[in-house]
Amino acid sequence: MKSEYTLKEKIIEALKEQKEIYGDELFTSSLSLRKTEVRTDSSSDSSHNPALEAIETWEMAESLDELYDKIYECTKCVLHKGRNKFVFGVGNPNADVMLIGEGPGADEDRLGEPFVGRAGQLLNDILKAIHFTRQEVYIGNVVKCRPPGNRTPLPSEMETCLPYLTKQIQLIKPKLILCLGLTAAQGLLKKKDSLSALRGKIFELGKVKVMVTYHPAALLRNPNWKRGCWEDVQKFRKLYDEMKGN
Ligand code: URA
Repeated sequence: MKSEYTLKEKIIEALKEQKEIYGDELFTSSLSLRKTEVRTDSSSDSSHNPALEAIETWEMAESLDELYDKIYECTKCVLHKGRNKFVFGVGNPNADVMLIGEGPGADEDRLGEPFVGRAGQLLNDILKAIHFTRQEVYIGNVVKCRPPGNRTPLPSEMETCLPYLTKQIQLIKPKLILCLGLTAAQGLLKKKDSLSALRGKIFELGKVKVMVTYHPAALLRNPNWKRGCWEDVQKFRKLYDEMKGN
């Protein structure tokens, strides 16, 4: 039937995109069936394929608004219990640049928008210093619900939430991502290295180039790290200009 065939095509396309970014590592928690059991030959029958049944509807979202509508009531991890607002992300849906933080704090949980507290003010200043506006980039977090007492999200919470961020990246198709802090960097890049080992390098996540710098909240606590952050973001801007042919 035509409608099933279209669904299957969409799923195969989504899987190819996921594979481009993360290889076979993605969705090990929620969708492990997909890696082994999705058959991509035209003779496979989707109505009897358990892998296709495991695909969740949000994975088929074709826009950020649609994705938000499908996930904002998420209850997959314990963080939803203390949530006031689900902090999806904010900015230009076609941004060339994405900034990824760790997770919402108290202000973000109250207002439903990432980086709106003191760390957010500093982030706005950092963006301004490298000639980006908050409106032209897209800002998100590795986890979308506030961890209690602003603790670091647990690896299991990050693994559960990360597919949502990956889907946002697929929809936005940025050229560059800047990870803010070790948690975002380790979560997104799936690396265990220290921040000093990750800073200054250019990583590739599929077609997207990724750099890492300090978290703005860490800069508020340790202003002597601002110089290093400045060097990182200058390099980030230079890379952006090179990619855009500026
Ligand atoms: N810190 C983060 O990592 N993200 C936010 O949205 C706010 C503070």
